[in-house]
Amino acid sequence: MVPAAGTRPRTLGLVPTMGALHDGHAALVAQARAQNDVVVVSVFVNRLQFNDPADFERYPRTLDEDVALLARAGADVVFAPAEEEVYPDGPPLVAVSSGPLGGKFEGASRPGHFDGMLAVVAKLLHYGAPHPETAVPVRYRAYFGQKDAQQLAIIRRLVADLAYDVDIAAVPIVRSGAGLALSSRNRFLGEAEAEAALVLSRALFLLKQRADAHEPLGLDDAEALIRSQPLVDLDYLEVVDPSTLEPLAFNCRETPFTGEALALVAAQVGPVRLIDNMPLGGA
Ligand code: PAJ
Repeated sequence: MVPAAGTRPRTLGLVPTMGALHDGHAALVAQARAQNDVVVVSVFVNRLQFNDPADFERYPRTLDEDVALLARAGADVVFAPAEEEVYPDGPPLVAVSSGPLGGKFEGASRPGHFDGMLAVVAKLLHYGAPHPETAVPVRYRAYFGQKDAQQLAIIRRLVADLAYDVDIAAVPIVRSGAGLALSSRNRFLGEAEAEAALVLSRALFLLKQRADAHEPLGLDDAEALIRSQPLVDLDYLEVVDPSTLEPLAFNCRETPFTGEALALVAAQVGPVRLIDNMPLGGA
């Protein structure tokens, strides 16, 4: 809730989204709601991060339902700008580069995706920033899902490398009861495809089980599980360092697993590209 009249907000949480909201987004809003006096949610389908124009055109736009969900979730402000507001002069001429982090995994399959994502996130973090005229310092946090682990790693670097005055909060992946990571694009999966897609999370949970038991991860078994499903066309399955996204091949293949890592997977299932991941080890 916005603090009562006469008191000043001390904390502000921003939740950037592209709309077509589901329970995964709701978890971000719930965490922001629990931790901040004021919660702002942005809804903007950012053309620049779609490497495929057809994907941009068919991206679900459900603003009325989104606003209703956000009202129930307790957001204070919904910011849903038009494209001309965000990019008044067309695509920015000066841009932030996602560098080597943005060229691998999703970036390799979707050229330009992470630079386009940064173009808008770099602005949204400014739009959401509390104004400094209040005498009370306002703590500023922005919430992102672990679902998009590579995006999260790149945004952490944006904030560190360009000295943004914001804390980045990561929210765990929300899954369907059967284990599929929720995504706005899941609605395009047919019944058989949605069922087939479950091998992705099963493979990740297999790796987690082995990591928790400090066994070798046996990445090949997880890969074989995914390849056993003909409707799933595997793009990559890799175990990486969570910050640098560099593969940790040795730690995971033959030796007992120790430390912290991130298992990343992506596959095409019918008309949809699905990504999922699993933090391994750690607390
Ligand atoms: P969008 O895909 O709408 O996702 C908005 C936020 O919700 C992201 O931080 C994403 O990681 C998180 N999210 C999506 N599905 C989730 C799930 N199942 N569990 C937990 N969190 C989930 O990501 C974007 O939009 C855009 O790239 C954006 C950052 C808004 C820039 O345009």
